[in-house]
Amino acid sequence: MDPEFWISELTDDDLPAVIALCRNALDLPEDAAEASEIVLRLREAGRRTGFLAVSPGDRVIGVVLGSVSHRDASIAHVDLIAVDPAERRRGVGRALMTRIEGALAGMGADDVVLAGNAPYYAWPGIDVRYTPALCAAMALGFAQDQPAWNMTASLLSVAPTDAQEKKLADEGVTIRRALAGDVPKLSEFALANWGSGWAGEIVDSIGRDRAGCHLAVESDGTLLGFAAYGSSRPSWFGPMGTTVAARGRGIGSILLRRCLADQRAAGLESAQIGWVGPVPFYSAAVGARVERVFFLYRKQL
Ligand SMILES: CC(C)(COP(=O)(O)OP(=O)(O)OC[C@H]1O[C@@H](n2cnc3c(N)ncnc32)[C@H](O)[C@@H]1OP(=O)(O)O)[C@@H](O)C(=O)NCCC(=O)NCCS
Repeated sequence: MDPEFWISELTDDDLPAVIALCRNALDLPEDAAEASEIVLRLREAGRRTGFLAVSPGDRVIGVVLGSVSHRDASIAHVDLIAVDPAERRRGVGRALMTRIEGALAGMGADDVVLAGNAPYYAWPGIDVRYTPALCAAMALGFAQDQPAWNMTASLLSVAPTDAQEKKLADEGVTIRRALAGDVPKLSEFALANWGSGWAGEIVDSIGRDRAGCHLAVESDGTLLGFAAYGSSRPSWFGPMGTTVAARGRGIGSILLRRCLADQRAAGLESAQIGWVGPVPFYSAAVGARVERVFFLYRKQL
């Protein structure tokens, strides 16, 4: 008897078919709409692997992407799993997970997590509305970790920043768009103030299509804060940070609104403030609300 499907290693030639599959298989419209960016950006990052489920006629019916943690080589991430809606509950997801867990163990990982591998991630974890995926995680022996959440910001009425920028300019603080030449200093700034995680996202937000970064700088060149968007996905905002000493002057709120204004100018109506963070700040600054909630999972390999 012919097999109903088989698992094969993903190659770059398969990416168009994988993107087409994800447009159909990511049940949330905001994810389906960014299927191309999600797949291509996950594929660019670090030590990674991926597998396809293929049915007769060479039809791609499932995909799983994984990677080794950028921070801790003993941890591996499943970055994306999706199965064609017409092919679910036939063991495709289970077969893909079994295969990638073996590959990730072979790459030296002790634990596998269903969680974003910052700075290259499409989600912090599994959106709770992907309920079949939560069920699959439980069935496949994963234990639930701390949850995470995004905030949604409407881009339709982001308040202008001109008056506040003028006031800061009078105090010697310039707010401007970050350029390629700012990357080394910004990376160092992020590293010194917030640890290793954010430098990669900042770098990826500068010079990339549908992404950007704004910064605040003192007249002597001292950086006071930054805000970035689009590094993980075009509609996602973050990270951002203002130094402790510069807080309370409205700098973070201006930087945030500058990024959101860019995203609005690119045609978006709302942005996801990813993997939050200071809920009261975003709520007060732009009326953002907690909306997408993610469960994270872990399993020993
Ligand atoms: C999650 C997903 C990949 C599962 O694929 P699948 O091929 O249907 O999974 P399997 O058939 O191998 O199911 C494995 C186990 O998960 C559980 N499961 C899967 N779907 C389920 C559902 N709808 N309800 C309850 N349990 C479910 C079951 O225990 C199942 O084993 P069983 O059928 O022997 O009981 C698929 O539903 C999907 O593509 N969803 C949309 C994308 C997504 O949510 N991705 C994760 C976010 S990135």
